[in-house]
Amino acid sequence: MGRNKNTKQNSSSTDNGNFENPDSMSVDEVTIGEITINEAGASSNLPNDRTSADYYFDSYSHFGIHEEMLKDVVRTKTYQNVIYKNDFLIKDKVVLDVGAGTGILSLFCAKAGAKHVYAVECSDMADMAKQIVETNGYSDVITVLKGKIEELELPVKVDIIVSEWMGYFLLYENMLNTVLYARDKWLVEDGIVFPDKAALYITAIEDAEYKEDKIEFWNDVYGFDMSCIRKQAMLEPLVDTVDQNQIVTNSCLLKTMDISKMTPGDASFTAPFRLVAERNDYIHALVAYFDVSFTRCHKLMGFSTGPKSRGTHWKQTVLYLEEKIVMCEGEAIVGTMSVSQNKKNPRDVDIMINYSFEGKNCAVKKTQCYKMR
Ligand SMILES: C[S@@+](CC[C@H](N)C(=O)[O-])C[C@H]1O[C@@H](n2cnc3c(N)ncnc32)[C@H](O)[C@@H]1O
Repeated sequence: MGRNKNTKQNSSSTDNGNFENPDSMSVDEVTIGEITINEAGASSNLPNDRTSADYYFDSYSHFGIHEEMLKDVVRTKTYQNVIYKNDFLIKDKVVLDVGAGTGILSLFCAKAGAKHVYAVECSDMADMAKQIVETNGYSDVITVLKGKIEELELPVKVDIIVSEWMGYFLLYENMLNTVLYARDKWLVEDGIVFPDKAALYITAIEDAEYKEDKIEFWNDVYGFDMSCIRKQAMLEPLVDTVDQNQIVTNSCLLKTMDISKMTPGDASFTAPFRLVAERNDYIHALVAYFDVSFTRCHKLMGFSTGPKSRGTHWKQTVLYLEEKIVMCEGEAIVGTMSVSQNKKNPRDVDIMINYSFEGKNCAVKKTQCYKMR
């Protein structure tokens, strides 16, 4: 998940360790975590008189967004790999797919031998999912339920919850709360949540060219001062692909989340960071990215959305700094990042960074706020 953000134009768990970099993989063979897998549409039930206004508040009803997610091979093949390679966890179990979309995760679970799968989807894509399930001969195993999980009743509790809920910057769109709600209401004690761990990281990059293009641009537009828009542009984190050569510092783990235990409140936090320069360079932005993992698998599996890993549709989240920082190798930016749900719109994320730097060539102490919206 994580769609419709302003988007630029690849990273290790932690973007540097637990997950193998799948850059060299073909679409049919993706190695994620420690395992290699080999494997890789719809006619319409939607009313044909839908207009763009109908899609504005319900982008998941349109196939385009599902096409983008399905074609994200890092994302989709990791789930497929987790489910097929760990069918001992799925076989004869009752599964709940929270936010089923086209029903792809439900189909993986049905194929892996689930006793029954409840595929819950609130958008009109649920109608397509029903057709897809039927077309593929899984109607007796998968029940598609159209509606919000918060408003539906299931006939039984489930052994496993599978969901792809992650947004840009991990938390944008706030679907995590929906999964936590489903876990508390419908998961049996000792049930499994797929994925069960998520982690957010931060690093610092040189990005003079792009900052000039996206931010400083507004200072002089055909000879006119539009810097009032620059202020807004600075507030909105940019979702884009960061080249790994731009990375100047280490990556710092900000927050780990245990989806099987956490409460919704745990998604709001303040975490410290310390970013140490690995070369002499300018810093124009901090960059956030996340990993997710499935720790109940036979072997640790998961993927990273960091700049050293194979690209995903989540790309990375770039937070531009007001002033560039001149860093020498070994010097450190220290600070804290606070993340919270926006009070007016809980799907939006408010981010605040406090940072300070005292180096040979410059000193900075600042607070900057951003809004993912
Ligand atoms: C990121 S998509 C994932 C779709 C599909 N599981 C996949 O992996 O391709 C999340 C889906 O969850 C649905 N969704 C979001 N909130 C929901 C809720 N409260 N109840 C049911 N479905 C929800 C959205 O409509 C969207 O189709």
